[in-house]
Amino acid sequence: MKALVYHGPGQKSWEEKPKPGLISPSDAIVKILKTTICGTDLHIMKGDVPEVTDGRIIGHEGVGIVEEVGTGVSNFKKGDHVVISCITSCGKCAYCKKGMYSHCAHGGWILGHLIDGTQAEYVRIPHADNSLYAIPAGSDEEALVMLSDILPTGFECGVLNGQVKPGDVVAIVGAGPIGIATLLTAQFYTPAEIIMIDQDDNRLEVAKKFGATQTINSAAENAVERIMNLTDNIGVDVAIEAVGVPETFELCQEIIAPGGHIANIGVHGKSVCLHLETLWSKNITITTRLVDTVTSPMLLKTVQSKKIEPAKLITHHFRLGQIIEAYDTFGNAAKEKALKVILSS
Ligand SMILES: NC(=O)c1ccc[n+]([C@@H]2O[C@H](COP(=O)([O-])OP(=O)(O)OC[C@H]3O[C@@H](n4cnc5c(N)ncnc54)[C@H](O)[C@@H]3O)[C@@H](O)[C@H]2O)c1
Ligand SMILES: [Zn+2]
Ligand SMILES: [Zn+2]
Repeated sequence: MKALVYHGPGQKSWEEKPKPGLISPSDAIVKILKTTICGTDLHIMKGDVPEVTDGRIIGHEGVGIVEEVGTGVSNFKKGDHVVISCITSCGKCAYCKKGMYSHCAHGGWILGHLIDGTQAEYVRIPHADNSLYAIPAGSDEEALVMLSDILPTGFECGVLNGQVKPGDVVAIVGAGPIGIATLLTAQFYTPAEIIMIDQDDNRLEVAKKFGATQTINSAAENAVERIMNLTDNIGVDVAIEAVGVPETFELCQEIIAPGGHIANIGVHGKSVCLHLETLWSKNITITTRLVDTVTSPMLLKTVQSKKIEPAKLITHHFRLGQIIEAYDTFGNAAKEKALKVILSS
């Protein structure tokens, strides 16, 4: 089969690899129908995720058809259409029992990271019963690619951890796919205002179409001043960090109102200053989370019923064999006006 293989920082190729086979009875082999590229894959390509070693097939999102299942798999059979979760989980360990699949003792984020991933014609999914989700017949399968990672990430790490409530003023820093997924799912709770902050005007325009009530280009204006003006100098009830750099987490600390919640989503590579000298008395909560994908079944229903329409995030289509071109497009997102790229087999 063909697959996208990482060969060290800045080096990748679309090359021949052996088709995966079952290793454990709980495995399934899935034929990829559609996959995509995540911001995290770009981090991997830069060499920011050193656990990813030479020869690894990357990718942790996609939908496909079950090709083969191990004797221990009871929820799926050959021919079933499935969403692949970016998180692999056994469903049985102490963390899984708490719904914390991201820290599963036998899984977690391993796909396209510690084991071969989904940017390939076939992928092996361990613990298939708990790591795949059945796609109802007649679904828009392309839209469901967003259930592998970005929708549960925005919802769990941003909206649930940030405790968004009706009437809240919410700020989302970062209007990439994750920030937009947060924007879409925050609206389940009817906040009064959703302020999107980014440095890319195109992405801010997209955010407006998806329901942002205010947008701020923080490269062009002072975001703190603007937010304080918008909120009578109180700040926001919920500040969600969806970039992963020190300055955006610092911004969240500057705009948070007393009693507010700062929910971090971004993957950080550097330490960030925690301003307890101003925050100690403000009754705030700061949360962090690796996506668990426990809400994927619920989110699937909201996509099915068109309460949210994540297909609108798709800006580019490629064949799987054009994946190198797709990386160039996604890697130049501002110039290419790219949000989510879909690769089809
Ligand atoms: N916690 C988790 O489980 C989890 C899961 C998936 C992704 N992530 C992380 O979420 C973050 C966002 O992912 P994405 O795919 O949307 O990434 P992305 O790179 O596509 O989007 C980031 C956005 O931030 C904007 N930005 C960059 N610097 C900025 C600044 N100083 N001020 C304001 N905006 C700025 C960019 O213009 C871009 O639109 C990444 O760090 C990613 O690794 C976390
Ligand atoms: Zn991802
Ligand atoms: Zn587990």
